[in-house]
Amino acid sequence: MNLNNHKLPVAVFASGNGTNFEAIAKADLPIEIEVLVCDHHEAPVIQRARKFQVPVFLSEAQKGVSKADRESKILQRLKEDGVKAIFLAGYMRIVGPTLLNAYPKRILNIHPALLPKFPGRHGIKDAYDADVPYTGVTIHYIDQKIDNGPVIAQEKVPHYTNDSLHDLAMRIHHTEHQLYPNTIRKLIQQGKL
Ligand code: GAR
Repeated sequence: MNLNNHKLPVAVFASGNGTNFEAIAKADLPIEIEVLVCDHHEAPVIQRARKFQVPVFLSEAQKGVSKADRESKILQRLKEDGVKAIFLAGYMRIVGPTLLNAYPKRILNIHPALLPKFPGRHGIKDAYDADVPYTGVTIHYIDQKIDNGPVIAQEKVPHYTNDSLHDLAMRIHHTEHQLYPNTIRKLIQQGKL
C-alpha cells in the first residue's frame, strides 16, 4: 500500500446550507468524504454534496424512532463505508452515546464563536447583540453537551462598531472556511485522526 496516497475515509454531518461542507470538500485534504449525513431532506447542503459526487444518507427525526435507533442506522452506514472520523458542519443535533462511543476523539464540530462563549444555534447573533469587540470560530471535539468538549483550535474575528449582523456573519464564515480544513489537515499530519 502506498501510504502517501492514503486518504482518510470520513463523513460530514450537516443540517443546512453547507458552506463548511463545501470548504472541506474543496480543500486539498488527504480525506475521502464517503458520505454526507443530513437530517433535512430540503437542506441546500444536499445539492452541494451531489455537486461533489458525495453520497447522501438522509436521517430525519421521526415520531416513535429514538435517537439511539436513528444513530444505530447512521452507524451501520458509517461502518459499511469504513468511516474513521466525523466532521460536524452545521449539524444542529446533539450527538448521542451511540455515535460518541463508536468514534471517541474522532468527532469534530465547528462553532461560530469563541467557546465557551455564545454556545447554541445563534452564536453569531448572540455575540453581535452582546456587542463584544471580537468574537471568533472554534473547532472542538464533541461530548454529550451542546457545543462543548475539548477545544482544538480557535481564531478571533473582530466585530467593528459599524458592522451589520450580515457583515459580522460574512467575516466569521470566511474564517470558518479556512480554519476547519486547516485544522483537519494539521490533525491528520499529527496522526491524531
Ligand atoms: C456554521 O456557522 C457553523 O459554525 C454553525 O452552523 C453554521 C453552518 O453553516 N454551527 C453551529 O452553530 C453549531 N452550534 P453552513 O451550513 O453554511 O456550513
